[in-house]
Amino acid sequence: MTLGRRDVLCGMAAGAASLAFPARAVGTTELIADVGEMQLLPPQYAQTRFWGFGGTMPGPEIRVRQGERVQRTLVNELPQATSIHWHGIRIDNAMDGVSGLTQAATAPGDRFSYDFVAPDAGTYWYHAHNRSIEQVARGLYGALIVEEHTAPDVDAEDVLLLDDWLIDPATGQIDADFDAMHDRSHAGRNGNFIATNATYGLTRPARRYERRRLRIINAANARVFELRLQGLQGWIMAYDGMPLTAPRPFGDYLLLGPGQRADVFVDVTAEAGGQAHLLAVLDGEGLSQIKFEVAGNASGTRRGAPVPLEGNAHQMVQLDGARVLTLDMEGGAMGGLRSATLDGKRMNFRQLVGQGQFWAFNGAIGRAEDPPLANLSRGEHVWLKIRNATAFPHAMHLHGMHFHEVEADGRLGPLRDTTLIFGDQSREIAFVADNPGNWLLHCHMLAHAASGMTTRIEVA
Ligand code: C2O
Ligand code: CU
Repeated sequence: MTLGRRDVLCGMAAGAASLAFPARAVGTTELIADVGEMQLLPPQYAQTRFWGFGGTMPGPEIRVRQGERVQRTLVNELPQATSIHWHGIRIDNAMDGVSGLTQAATAPGDRFSYDFVAPDAGTYWYHAHNRSIEQVARGLYGALIVEEHTAPDVDAEDVLLLDDWLIDPATGQIDADFDAMHDRSHAGRNGNFIATNATYGLTRPARRYERRRLRIINAANARVFELRLQGLQGWIMAYDGMPLTAPRPFGDYLLLGPGQRADVFVDVTAEAGGQAHLLAVLDGEGLSQIKFEVAGNASGTRRGAPVPLEGNAHQMVQLDGARVLTLDMEGGAMGGLRSATLDGKRMNFRQLVGQGQFWAFNGAIGRAEDPPLANLSRGEHVWLKIRNATAFPHAMHLHGMHFHEVEADGRLGPLRDTTLIFGDQSREIAFVADNPGNWLLHCHMLAHAASGMTTRIEVA
């Protein structure tokens, strides 16, 4: 007797039933990390090999409503272990995706299921968090958009992942010297090919006087983007996912450090038949990050100023009586760091350089595995004073919680998850430690994070 198709089906059904409905989360989608090829450079150049999620560059956009669940199973088909961090989400610590801290890195061939709720509306992103210095530079990132319950009054939306790729022009391939000592000790790994959403010369149609929401995400390893508008006028509506209580006129320019985001509403003011741009200024030159070809009019005039985006509920932090912490950042080229401790051993600068370590937090080479900067109890109010005694800017990112930047007059500034601090400047931030877990605090210039600028905060 031959085994008919029907028998096979019966056999499978019986097998499945005996598993008594394993806890396979409904709605889980695979997110495959794999090697791919893309036409990043203009067509006369070779294709570029990249590491990406879901076979596309950038990875698939994940879009949910505020309060909805995100379920993704990372399937690692890369030649290297990886993990996914959901940057800016006030997340359950076990889902934060920090290899070596909140989970073991997912080995090649293995999988890891992420399952969390997105409590806040806003513009977020996800990226690899194992050997980020290499994996983010190779392309392991995508946008994570959490929509407000009430959609704002805009005509169109553009999700823009800004990046600068470091490409070997002879081969068209990503420069594989990820641990270059010069990058680690200076400004980090800066690229030589700027592209938005991995698209060279990104162009979209637009109409005059329409209002667009730009969701701008700086996915670069180290570059601080100086952004300007041309043929557009707008307001900054949110930083790092969190709405400003009052929209701010865009002004002349906007600085966005690595890991930071901004939601900007722009009105197209360029004439029909003309062009409008979001520009990044590099060496005094404006490079288009997105070009709008303006065809026709959406209306006869601009509409009025926008109303603020729907707020995300945060407990108000009190500076009065807050626990004060300090973080002194030292080191790097021209930083004058004489010595620091590494693994509990005092080392002079030459010895540190031998270990590829250049930056110190409070006199120690900061690493995730070292004791935390602070052990906090849940609900504690924290006032963290950061002093950048180095010659370089740093983009300090706190996982798991947003913080206020404290302004010079002591008032609370906008909520952020990443703050940009220029050389020889200080920044104070304040937050309520309301999310239990082990939270990384590091420079998002990924070469810096890998050579001393990483610590963590533990919330009981
Ligand atoms: Cu966006 Cu620790 O990272
Ligand atoms: Cu840095």
